[in-house]
Amino acid sequence: MERSHYCNDVRESLTGQRVTLCGWVNRRRDHGGVIFVDLRDRTGLVQVVFSPEDGQSHGQAHVLRNEYVVQVEGIVARRPAETENTKLPTGLIEVRVERVTLLNAAAVLPFQLDEEVSESVRLTHRFLDLRRPEMQRNLIARHRAMQAIRRGLDEEGFLEIETPMLTRSTPEGARDYLVPSRVNPGEFYALPQSPQLFKQLLMISGYDRYFQITRCFRDEDLRADRQPEFTQVDLEMSFVDPDQVIGLVERVVARLFAEVLDIRLNLPFPRMTYAEAMDRYGLDAPDTRIRMQLTDLTATLAGTGFKVFADAAKLTGMRGQQGAIKALRVPGGAALTRKEIDECTEFVSIYGAKGLAWVKVNGPWAEGGWQSPIVKFFNESELTAIATATGVQTGDLLFFGADRLKVVNESLGRLRVKLGRERHIMDDTPFSFAWVTDFPLLEWDAEAKRFTSVHHPFTAPLVEDFDRMNAAGAEGVDEVRSRAYDLVLNGSEVGGGSIRIHDPQMQRRMLELLAIGPEEAEEKFGFLLRALEFGAPPHGGLALGLDRLMAIMLGAESIRDVIAFPKTQKAACPLTRAPSVVDAAQLRELHLRTTARPRGEAAPG
Ligand code: AMO
Ligand code: AMP
Repeated sequence: MERSHYCNDVRESLTGQRVTLCGWVNRRRDHGGVIFVDLRDRTGLVQVVFSPEDGQSHGQAHVLRNEYVVQVEGIVARRPAETENTKLPTGLIEVRVERVTLLNAAAVLPFQLDEEVSESVRLTHRFLDLRRPEMQRNLIARHRAMQAIRRGLDEEGFLEIETPMLTRSTPEGARDYLVPSRVNPGEFYALPQSPQLFKQLLMISGYDRYFQITRCFRDEDLRADRQPEFTQVDLEMSFVDPDQVIGLVERVVARLFAEVLDIRLNLPFPRMTYAEAMDRYGLDAPDTRIRMQLTDLTATLAGTGFKVFADAAKLTGMRGQQGAIKALRVPGGAALTRKEIDECTEFVSIYGAKGLAWVKVNGPWAEGGWQSPIVKFFNESELTAIATATGVQTGDLLFFGADRLKVVNESLGRLRVKLGRERHIMDDTPFSFAWVTDFPLLEWDAEAKRFTSVHHPFTAPLVEDFDRMNAAGAEGVDEVRSRAYDLVLNGSEVGGGSIRIHDPQMQRRMLELLAIGPEEAEEKFGFLLRALEFGAPPHGGLALGLDRLMAIMLGAESIRDVIAFPKTQKAACPLTRAPSVVDAAQLRELHLRTTARPRGEAAPG
């Protein structure tokens, strides 16, 4: 039953030759006698023709319906000039069928492949959805990407080493997926949130330059760019500084873009510190295509007569909790209507902003050109300072946020992205990469009343900040910066990594700062602390989020479109109907009893 060619490989050069093709009926057209079928396989389409002169095959062609599976044998011929289809790679030829074998029929489809249907329908019938050319293109590109990465890392001297799926909890900040142990009653494995600890152990064991393309599991609230199981390109190197890790990742990403998209990226990617990113863009994953920046006016306006602003400037507290006044200049924004401004106010309230002051700049302020509910509160020197600091031009609009820095940054930062994309105040470069470095080491969790790691507890502090980290009490530790770096693409975090702590004393201190006592530390990370005692080399690495990277590369709306069998926002699979209730006997065997009432047969999704 062998095929001689894939559909898309049948071209003019084969004219006159006999070919055998296998595939699905994409469409059948009956042209009064002659029957045309678009035959499809994973490579594309080719037109096959059944002429009435050939009684046997023509008779068979009559029974063909969409998605029937057939094998055809025939002769490649040039299409008559007026029937050429220049949009189709195979559009200059057709295959004149001499023999057709019906390999299988197909039931009436729940939806046509070229029809727009809801994602829940698509996921329920994923086996059909995956036949769509767009999905085939995505999965094939993903395959190519994985091969390019493997080849690239192999050439760079990396070893691909697998690490366990049934393991202990690794703290990456999400909830664990647990797996009960049958043979150890009452005990559980955790599925890895990442291979973090194992890759560090591999460095300690001397396997310098490790990588793995592996699944990670995180039970967290899902969004368009998050899945409960997702794929990381995980890597680790010994005897390196951030520069070497960053350089390596840039080479791998450049190779990926060259091989998959035939696009040359400019290296190196620009870098900025976390502090710069927050200052200018309000977010730690800035979309650097957008041509707008935030301006800090806290010092300028601290003494203003506008009480809302003056009060905000007086707020004090730990990093992010102190008060701030910032402005966002929107080029051409004076054209925004009142309704559009109100929508922006509504939008920033999602991020906790209590208001959104604005100025429409119709001319210089001195000529009464500033239209705004708040200019009356500012004196001349304040107005001059605002104009100078923001660089505002006639035709622009200024938005202002005044609150705790965290709220101001997030609300204006998100507004910048929204307006930048909606009003196209951005460069046309399709891919804009940036590194964000020197993240804070710790952040204060007001609810739990303790510090948590910004990256993870194994990330090393900046050498300059050692003293602060070791200061008695925990005075100023919120200011300690880390040797962590993120790779950002078009405003999405597509990778994250750091140089790790390789000194056991430092690691113990880190756990202490995280309020993890010696006993808990021993219980959870004893193996790591011990391993660090036996000659741990300095090391560091990074993990790329492959799904996110592919989604952006391929212009997919969600990472679900680059994953063969993804989960819904409710972490369910409508196709297999996972998760599901299990037998009482199976639970007993696992020494489990459940108190929850299962979701029953509610519609998936
Ligand atoms: P981190 O937690 O930053 O680092 O994860 C690395 C990258 O994985 C992607 N990612 C996700 N993609 C889809 N769905 C998710 N739920 C999800 N969560 C994360 C992101 C992210 O940048 N062990 C460290 C790496 C290291 O330090 O070397 C780690 O896991 O693109
Ligand atoms: P008000 O004096 O409350 O009427 O506010 C005057 C303007 O300031 C309105 O446009 C509000 O949206 C805006 N505003 C109020 N609170 C804030 C704030 N915290 N940050 C920025 N603008 C604000």
